[in-house]
Amino acid sequence: MRVLLLGSGGREHALAWKIAQSSILEALFIAPGNAGTRNHGQNVAIQPTDFPAIEKFVLSEKIDMVVVGPEDPLVLGIHDYFLANEALSKVGVIGPQKEAAQLEGSKDYAKEFMARHNIPTAKYGTFTKDTLAEGHAFLSKMKAPYVLKADGLAAGKGVLILDDLKEAQAELTNMLKGKFGAASSKVVVEQFLKGIECSVFVITDGDSYKLLPEAKDYKRIGEGDSGLNTGGMGAVSPVPFADAGFMDKVKNQIIIPTVKGLKSENIPYKGFIFFGLISVKGEPYVIEYNCRMGDPETEVVIPRLKSDILDLFEGVQSNTLSERDVQFDDRCAATVMMVSGGYPNDYEKGKQIYGLNAVADSMVFHAGTKADGPAVISAGGRVLAVTSYGKNLETALDKSYASINNIEFEKSNYRKDIGFDVVDREI
Ligand code: AMP
Ligand code: GLY
Repeated sequence: MRVLLLGSGGREHALAWKIAQSSILEALFIAPGNAGTRNHGQNVAIQPTDFPAIEKFVLSEKIDMVVVGPEDPLVLGIHDYFLANEALSKVGVIGPQKEAAQLEGSKDYAKEFMARHNIPTAKYGTFTKDTLAEGHAFLSKMKAPYVLKADGLAAGKGVLILDDLKEAQAELTNMLKGKFGAASSKVVVEQFLKGIECSVFVITDGDSYKLLPEAKDYKRIGEGDSGLNTGGMGAVSPVPFADAGFMDKVKNQIIIPTVKGLKSENIPYKGFIFFGLISVKGEPYVIEYNCRMGDPETEVVIPRLKSDILDLFEGVQSNTLSERDVQFDDRCAATVMMVSGGYPNDYEKGKQIYGLNAVADSMVFHAGTKADGPAVISAGGRVLAVTSYGKNLETALDKSYASINNIEFEKSNYRKDIGFDVVDREI
């Protein structure tokens, strides 16, 4: 199989690493990829949202399957673009069409979908500029803290959680007046749920699904989950509190109603579904859907998948996923993200990274790197995801932290306490 993988982060490096191990792979290309993905295939200088350039490449390289890493091309309709073009329509696309990608692309769409299928989620109201007064009144009837969510994609910044009613009302006004551009022309106001979060993933062909290992990511920049939100500073898998009883509830109340709900509404879905969940006293609620894998969750989930990932993708493409075998590694996995100093605010790029070859006990997935001749330099806020296996999460984390001691770049930063809330580990 000839495969084109779209994206350039740690998620895509982990996917490229896994795809490269497939017995049915003939050639792997990554667009645009990074300094890590080039070790598993050929990087090509095409942006994931440049559909005409992707089309040209797919035809000239006789690509059989396109695996979409990030959400943007999906929300913009890359899968529909392929289906609408006769020459491309036989090419498999891993990632849903535009309609289902709205589960991530519009919080209001996701909330309405969950309401139709009785999927547990926070109570909410959706408001626009025209219903601002109703929005203020709705907020005044809720209890603090107040959760405001821009309806559209806002690069992970579109959720505000505020303690003060007046401030929440003012922010609702700001958002509806364009604080996040078109993304906040609609705002979802939500009941605050108190609990512990985890991420659950499935891959589906639209009929059946396979559950992948769950993970927990650490979104805040600072230790103890403090400071600004980031793309994710680390992750662990499995998640100790997601035991069999909890996962049964997740399956019955959330996963099955979602997959069946999509099918019953004739909304095709081929790809990953990411359920961002919160456990409130052991009861799962959906905080968000994503139409792709998580990052950095992929860097712990994919290493725990033993089966051939292209066999699963082929099952998705041909609607035979139910016949495919999926097996997991019993070992635990942990990843710690090394980031550029200053991130998620302003940071410098272009710093040379030293010591990558000295890492023996971990896998280093590149998140934001670029090749500079033989050197590897930083090219983003999140730079490297250092993943390790262990017989338990403590050992996996210890190994990642030991490996990080070998890696150096100017002004690097990382969280010292990944896993702090689910493992007993000296920090
Ligand atoms: P989202 O972009 O929807 O994942 O929201 C970002 C983060 O905000 C989540 O990971 C949660 O930590 C938090 N959050 C979102 N919605 C709620 C809610 N209803 N109750 C409590 N926390 C929430
Ligand atoms: N780690 C959360 C995300 O990928 O959205």
